[in-house]
Amino acid sequence: MNDDLRVQAALEALYTFDYGSELEELRALYAKGLDLQWIAMRDLPWEQETDRTAFARSFSLGGIPIDETHFWTTLSADTRWEVARRGTALMLSNFLHGEQGALMVASQLVNAVPHLDGKLYAATQTLDEARHVEVFAKYIERLDHVFPITPALKQLLDRTLQSGNWMWKCVGMQIVVEGLALYVFRDMRENARDPLLRQLLTYVSRDEARHTAYGIKYLSAVLPSLSESERAELEDFAFEASRMLIDSRSGASLGDAFLQIWRDSGIDPMDVGTALSQDREKLDAAIAKRGGRIGPVSGFVVPTLRRIGLLSERNAAQFRKMFDELQIGTRRADGTRGNPLDGLIDLPDDLEAWASEGVPV
Ligand SMILES: [Fe+2]
Ligand SMILES: [Fe+2]
Repeated sequence: MNDDLRVQAALEALYTFDYGSELEELRALYAKGLDLQWIAMRDLPWEQETDRTAFARSFSLGGIPIDETHFWTTLSADTRWEVARRGTALMLSNFLHGEQGALMVASQLVNAVPHLDGKLYAATQTLDEARHVEVFAKYIERLDHVFPITPALKQLLDRTLQSGNWMWKCVGMQIVVEGLALYVFRDMRENARDPLLRQLLTYVSRDEARHTAYGIKYLSAVLPSLSESERAELEDFAFEASRMLIDSRSGASLGDAFLQIWRDSGIDPMDVGTALSQDREKLDAAIAKRGGRIGPVSGFVVPTLRRIGLLSERNAAQFRKMFDELQIGTRRADGTRGNPLDGLIDLPDDLEAWASEGVPV
């Protein structure tokens, strides 16, 4: 068997013989998880044909609203569809791999967490993640093939599976990976013009909101019992996990695969770069309308870390430096860029409602 397919996972399985409810909020999430189950093959409109023009209009090139550019309108309808379908398959493939990681980690949590409420809840999440793997694999099949996992995501999933400490698994998966996925799915859902993709992302985001809420509620309850050094190690892991997912220097980028898609569609990627820089003003205006380059880590993961008490001055400084290096932040009226740490948004209290409501445009 290929070595890439193997990872020596670690966990300590814990019994609990206390069958009463100790963490009622987690028991309530478990009940909600049971109540909101759905069946991918029954509840989604798979039989509907994809409207290719509408699909190509909602394509976003790694956060760049390419539909707003002059360049995009100069391409033929066939080329736009080709780039949009393959580009979307590429992006969703990485989410599909993340879902597989979530499936494995959620099943580990059933064994590894010490409270019955935490175990019952993790069992419902395991089924949710199985459905997400099923549904993304099926949707990607309509567009193109499944693209390989990025090295950075693989490394993060490996480290989360390999950690013998359930709190590390919870931070790596429930806070960082799930938080990023929820933020991106919600954004994608809002822009999607394919009814099937829209419906699929609505269901998946609703599930992911519960998964993130589990991490927040559980970790908030147990983190106060950690020693200072245990907490510091967990903070470092939270930063490292976030960095792995957004810093192209860590192998997080889909860039090379995107370049190949342009080439396969008969377009020189150099021409794309030139055309996009000519459209810079329009793009900047479209990005500014959405509040600047925020993204999932500064717009969701870091506020979550603050909420659960894992954002110290020390790791806040690490995040600040990374945002400066990656030029992430809101654009001020005078054209300068503000670091997200200076105006960190508050995490919404009701994540499920937040996941269901529209994104301001
Ligand atoms: Fe998921
Ligand atoms: Fe999830």
